[in-house]
Amino acid sequence: MENITKDQVEITKAKNSKIDSIDFNNLAFGQVFSDHMLTCDYKDGKWQQPKIEPFAPITLMPSAKIFHYGQSIFEGMKAYKDANDDVLLFRPTDNVKRLNISAKRLCIPEIPENYFMEGLKALLDLEKDWIPTKEGSSLYLRPFIFATGEGFHASPADEYKFIIACAPSGPYFSGKVKVLIEETYSRSANGGVGFAKAGGNYAGQFYPTQLAKDKGYQQVIWTDDTSHEYIEEAGAMNVFVRINDTLITSPVSDRILDGITRKSILDIAKAEGINTEVRKIKVSELVEAAKDGSLKEIFGAGTAAVISPISGFGFRDSDFDLPELENTYASKLKARIVAIQTNKTEDPFGWRVKI
Ligand code: PLP
Ligand code: COI
Repeated sequence: MENITKDQVEITKAKNSKIDSIDFNNLAFGQVFSDHMLTCDYKDGKWQQPKIEPFAPITLMPSAKIFHYGQSIFEGMKAYKDANDDVLLFRPTDNVKRLNISAKRLCIPEIPENYFMEGLKALLDLEKDWIPTKEGSSLYLRPFIFATGEGFHASPADEYKFIIACAPSGPYFSGKVKVLIEETYSRSANGGVGFAKAGGNYAGQFYPTQLAKDKGYQQVIWTDDTSHEYIEEAGAMNVFVRINDTLITSPVSDRILDGITRKSILDIAKAEGINTEVRKIKVSELVEAAKDGSLKEIFGAGTAAVISPISGFGFRDSDFDLPELENTYASKLKARIVAIQTNKTEDPFGWRVKI
């Protein structure tokens, strides 16, 4: 596989830009898309040259395997622009590596890291003006790969498409997030695909999440599939719990996504002198801590959601509200990670990448 540079990415420009029709001050999450996308096809046993094309519909045969056997994986990243107009990414190599971990599990050919990174740089050069600068907004980047190869035989496709699409976006959640601890349905199972960002993982969450929404909750806290005794993730986020002054999160496993925000928060918290523990968290521990007042905070962590405080949780027939504290770990850690991402502070960890 030849290495490429961003200048070798073939560009077909959109005839007209949509940018003037976008209200950058009122962006929802992932609802509007920029003018161009990066595309790269896998055929004849190799990934072909990456290209940039206008963001437009793609044509697939009804027999494309994505429709039948769900070979589809994705990533979530954000691009920011700082006061010097420089374009910044946050730990992008970790996303490429994770996309390829997902690819391997779904029997999808791995994308060369160099194609991903140089292609993304070329795309961001072109879409720079689409990066919002309002606090809480960013250009959400959605790299994904899906099976375009045809056939009803239940086996891996022989052709795939890799795309990076860009969506100028505001916050993922608006308002308070109350969660329901789920004991019937599971997001993932031992030996399954929970650690991968496979499209089907999310499809499987929609129905139980809808049931929780019907009961007045915004999200589900997933528990382990065997005993349902341990909390694992919160919707599409890793979950953190603060009991007294200790911040706790579950260890990652083949059921839990190895979140980039999660591991960054652990490092920031340690650097801030916060006591952290990576260990399994029992639902019963959470309930006891809520009852005796030692449960101070729960928050979700992920690229889209950044850090989202959880205002309360439901378990069986009881609701537990979390205290409304000032100076929460969630707000402190969110301020720190966002400042690093947007170049408002030093980055002692070396996570910020200028494009
Ligand atoms: N867990 C799940 C299931 C997710 O979909 C995400 C989102 O990407 C995360 C956790 C958080 O991961 P990251 O911080 O890398 O975005
Ligand atoms: C992200 O946080 O980037 C994700 O991929 C979650 C997504 C389901 C919005």
